[in-house]
Amino acid sequence: MASKVKALKTNKFIPLLSGRQKRFEQEMARLPDMPDQAMVIAKALHPKKQFVKVEEVITRADDCKSFVLVPDTAKGTTALAYFGAGKYLSVFEEIEGMKITRAYSISSKPKDALDGKYMLTIKRVDGGLMSNYILDNWTVGTEVTVSAPEGHFEYQPLRDAKKVICIAGGSGITPFISMAGAIVDGDEDFEMTLLYGSRNKDAVLFYDELEELKKNEKINVVHVFSDPDADTSADGIEKGFITAELIKKYAPSDEAYSVFICGPQAMYDFLDKEIEKLGLAKKFVRHEMFGEFHDPKSQKDYPNDIPETVSITVTIQDVTKTVTGSTNDSVLQILEKNGISAPSRCRSGECGFCHTHLLSGSVYVPKHLEYRRLADFKFNCIHPCCSFPLSDLVINVPAAK
Ligand code: FES
Repeated sequence: MASKVKALKTNKFIPLLSGRQKRFEQEMARLPDMPDQAMVIAKALHPKKQFVKVEEVITRADDCKSFVLVPDTAKGTTALAYFGAGKYLSVFEEIEGMKITRAYSISSKPKDALDGKYMLTIKRVDGGLMSNYILDNWTVGTEVTVSAPEGHFEYQPLRDAKKVICIAGGSGITPFISMAGAIVDGDEDFEMTLLYGSRNKDAVLFYDELEELKKNEKINVVHVFSDPDADTSADGIEKGFITAELIKKYAPSDEAYSVFICGPQAMYDFLDKEIEKLGLAKKFVRHEMFGEFHDPKSQKDYPNDIPETVSITVTIQDVTKTVTGSTNDSVLQILEKNGISAPSRCRSGECGFCHTHLLSGSVYVPKHLEYRRLADFKFNCIHPCCSFPLSDLVINVPAAK
């Protein structure tokens, strides 16, 4: 093959170029007048920011509310970007002088975006900054800035099996509510068996909606109650925890299936070992890291003799500052706690938006959040959202986009 390529005389092609260029120009002149249509579509699907307002607040439980968001036309957002079920929005807020972002899965279905509505469903988190702020402060009329829909936690027919076991814990139900809605609307085409882990019936979010959704022949819903006193006498309710055995009970035995998981960190710590027992191909297991990772020191491979606090010298937008923080916090959290606004989106290592140069020092990255590529290692780049300092650091952060 290489010898054939060498034998080609490239100068033979040169006279052809001007003729091709002429033909190209003629064809362009024949196109209907559609200035920048591709750009218009790209901008509509991927706006840098969307300005929205809270139209409705729905209380789901004492510690959980849904917020219906509509375009804030006065601020220039006239329509909402469409999305694939499973995506999230990053919410931008300024809290006590800190500019912070947090990612929340969209719990409404894609079709609702075409009608100008997104829904975010947010649960109170012990010590959580953004979630608790939203629950305490967002009311009808609150103006909010969000990103375009982002993320990779969505059904891909070329990669995923036709049957999907979806495993949700707590408010990790939100992307699956969106996916189930998309199946009912005909926007997604797969068979969903949802195993939803809760303490008991009172702790289930979207109970009535799930009852409605499971009337669709492609959707099965199984509640799994961990409270030993929970009533599990009705059909479609299991007692205990979601284990490999339980997954096998509901998974097809004679064909491939995918497993999608979304829930709190504790659920992953338990489920990752259970999923391993199933022996599934890697591509058939999809995780949505729900929220930030905390407590790096609980990980088995966390090194010994690490100081409690470190200093970080950071250059961002040509300004250099030195701040201090706890080695329990990610680099991103330390920056934010010191009033430095650094870029972030998913906050779980996946999107690469917080990509930063590590000029000196070392960090710990939990294995399951290690999404860096070879080039990142070669050029010493880190994702501050899931990098925990092990020593004093010097870093260079690209400006917030
Ligand atoms: S914010 Fe997505 S990788 Fe850090």
